[in-house]
Amino acid sequence: MRLSPASRFRGRFTLPGDKSLSHRLAILGALAEGETRIGNFSTAADCNSTLRCLKELGVEVRGSGRAVDVEGLGPAGLRGASGSLDVGNSGSTIRMLAGVLAGRPFRSVLTGDASIRRRPMERVAEPLRAMGAAVTTRDGAPPVTIEGGALRGITWRLPVASAQVKTAVLLAGLQADGITAVTEPSQSRDHTERLLPAFGVPLERSGTTVSLRGGTRLTPLTMEVPGDVSSAAFLVVAALILPDSWIHVENVLLNPARTAFIAVLRKMGGHVETGVRREEPEPVGWIEARTSRLRGVSVGAETVPALIDEVPALAVAATRAEGTFTVSGAGELRVKESDRIAALAEGLRAMGARVEERPDGLAIDGGLPLRGARVRAHGDHRIAMALSVAALTARGDSHVEDAECASVSFPEFYAFLERGIAGDRGRRG
Ligand code: S3P
Repeated sequence: MRLSPASRFRGRFTLPGDKSLSHRLAILGALAEGETRIGNFSTAADCNSTLRCLKELGVEVRGSGRAVDVEGLGPAGLRGASGSLDVGNSGSTIRMLAGVLAGRPFRSVLTGDASIRRRPMERVAEPLRAMGAAVTTRDGAPPVTIEGGALRGITWRLPVASAQVKTAVLLAGLQADGITAVTEPSQSRDHTERLLPAFGVPLERSGTTVSLRGGTRLTPLTMEVPGDVSSAAFLVVAALILPDSWIHVENVLLNPARTAFIAVLRKMGGHVETGVRREEPEPVGWIEARTSRLRGVSVGAETVPALIDEVPALAVAATRAEGTFTVSGAGELRVKESDRIAALAEGLRAMGARVEERPDGLAIDGGLPLRGARVRAHGDHRIAMALSVAALTARGDSHVEDAECASVSFPEFYAFLERGIAGDRGRRG
């Protein structure tokens, strides 16, 4: 993808449905008894991987565009797939489905693309084994083979906050005897906890512990998915760092476990406003952002889980800020779709930024002008989008190799960038 410098970024945007919510709605819909109707389903390739795997497990999924209906027959309605289940690039799909399949009395093999086959799976295999499933990994990574069956509830403490692992244990817990309780060292996104009660499953939350009793039947629901706030982050940063810019994003997810990047951008001096329009089962509203003078700040381990997917966008903002921006306690970034710490350091340095790579984070000295460069996305959608936004502020053209991987979460990204660069013909506000 060739990107030229942009003089401004403006527009009103509504985004396809949130990826994290779409995965969960499809999976919980498959476990419910009856028809779950999902509107504004994510267009992300990752969510399509979830739908494809569910179909291979015998679930009837009807879809036209962003309207997806899932005909659930309860957990017992799932059938063993004829071959291995291919999750593509989707870590959420492989980890969450592992939790579902741990409770099913058949053998499943879960695998995916080259990036997935490097990602750590013991973090999900261990609790599922403790619940009674036979789970094997290849040196800790996929393929993951699961011989599921009768499960017993467990009390499990996650060493690292992870919404995917927490969700896997809870999905297994739904099928287990007795109570399953999961505790995280700090709160990761809580969509599963918000959606389960909406599907009729009572659960208890206390601090960072969530527990439920197995055996409750899930009742289907109808839900419109709010826009993906992690996709919005790239547009927000573009509006902050380009001159004469302003955006409004309508109907976007505003769950506090996902919006910590907005608080950080504000602390950096960013003019970002939000308003909540409705609260249940997830807060939904709008975001506005406009050109701002930014300064570097420090982001510590306690905030990282609530902005883990937004570090690439924040790193781009940091290159345009005065002073030093640091993020620490973010070692998890090294085991995402790529090693995001190394990939960001490499790409932003190639564009002239001063970036220090640390074992668990980054330090970025902002304010240096960026220059166009040839940079690599490393097959990672969020790296492709971050470097593309950085390229808009560079002097000279840039090439982002492998940029099409943006479609893993945000297939419309480059079209939206073009729209923002062309500018809003409407008036501000
Ligand atoms: C996700 C959880 C996060 C996040 C991922 C989506 C989810 O991963 O990085 O993009 O939908 O549960 P972890 O579970 O590793 O924190």
